[in-house]
Amino acid sequence: MLSERVRAIKPSPTLAMNAKAVAMRRAGVDVISFGVGEPDFETPQHIRQEAVRAMEEGFTRYTAVGGIPELKDAIIEKFKTDNGLEFDRDSVMVSCGGKHVLYNLAQAILDPGDEVIIPAPYWVSYPPIAVLAGAEPVIVPTEARDDFKLSPEALEQAITPRTKLLVLNSPSNPTGVVYTQSELEALAEVVLRHDIFVVSDEIYEKLIFDDQVFFSIAQVSDALKARTFVVNGVSKTYAMTGWRIGYVGGPKEVIAAMTKIQSQSTSNPNSVAQRAAIAALNGPQDSVLEMKRAFDERRSVLVDRLNALDGVVCNRPQGAFYAFADFSHYYRKEKDGHTLDGSTALCEYLLTQARVALVPGIAFGADNFIRFSYATSLETIAQGLDRITEALEALSS
Ligand SMILES: Cc1ncc(COP(=O)(O)O)c(C=O)c1O
Repeated sequence: MLSERVRAIKPSPTLAMNAKAVAMRRAGVDVISFGVGEPDFETPQHIRQEAVRAMEEGFTRYTAVGGIPELKDAIIEKFKTDNGLEFDRDSVMVSCGGKHVLYNLAQAILDPGDEVIIPAPYWVSYPPIAVLAGAEPVIVPTEARDDFKLSPEALEQAITPRTKLLVLNSPSNPTGVVYTQSELEALAEVVLRHDIFVVSDEIYEKLIFDDQVFFSIAQVSDALKARTFVVNGVSKTYAMTGWRIGYVGGPKEVIAAMTKIQSQSTSNPNSVAQRAAIAALNGPQDSVLEMKRAFDERRSVLVDRLNALDGVVCNRPQGAFYAFADFSHYYRKEKDGHTLDGSTALCEYLLTQARVALVPGIAFGADNFIRFSYATSLETIAQGLDRITEALEALSS
């Protein structure tokens, strides 16, 4: 009954893990979750107030499919001031979250047989989004010792005559890695030489630590910008995951095609949420800095605790709110007659034994690792790590 397309993909493993933890909690089990991919803060009040105002004004009808002009203008201004990128209303578009932007893009430019280069570890939804468009994900592994960064040489090697698109994500989910300007310039040289497109997923742009400076590959040159789709959204920056507003800047013909697809699927993004997104982009930004400060503190605590675990190694993430730690030391350990043979088995063990929800690295194409979201309080981090320490000690004894 089901199509081949849908049979070729699995449900999002991060959302699935979250659902499992929620179900356990509902059953009365006190589960600590490091599984969520969303800030644990409220949407700032001025943003919520704008949504209330929009509702009171009756701004509750269909809007322009690709977003209302006022929101497009706020996005254009954001790209200009934050990234030095010039777009006009025809080259930006609003969708129901960054994920939906990526889906529309894949549907608009990919054909069966096209290859999409995805460096691993990757965000869980990139491969299925390519597969749903009939294209073939080409996974290029990267190593922790190289800070999980795609090298120009590895990119060059992965390119074939069928390559259409390269997916870049900086800061990265799950590794927290941030590409520097010179690293992006080196990748851009290969992209231009082979005439491929780039999607640059910049959803964690504002959550960047230490003295890292954010740089978009679209900033490298006009030639690069002409083949790059810059994806961003309000979910992570403004704690607005439930509002479902994402946006993109890119070549006009493709934006028009994506708008056409959206017009035949979801129509416009939610009207009230669009008004809230304008308030987010144009309003005070102090809440972003506050959130970032909190994430920064949690990052230090979590990464230090992870590296203190026997046999566990974790690079210091430079952005987003995830730590990606190598737990492979524990893989071949036996527990009650079962061998913990990878990240899924270890996460299941930690969920049942320690009541800690985590996402197995295999979901991101790197089975040696486990992803921890630190979008949770310092107290929860401490408690969760105490539980994990105990459960791992039980394995070693
Ligand atoms: C790397 C990355 N891109 C895009 C998204 C999509 O976010 P949204 O659809 O909420 O805008 C996420 C969310 O988890 C993400 O981690």
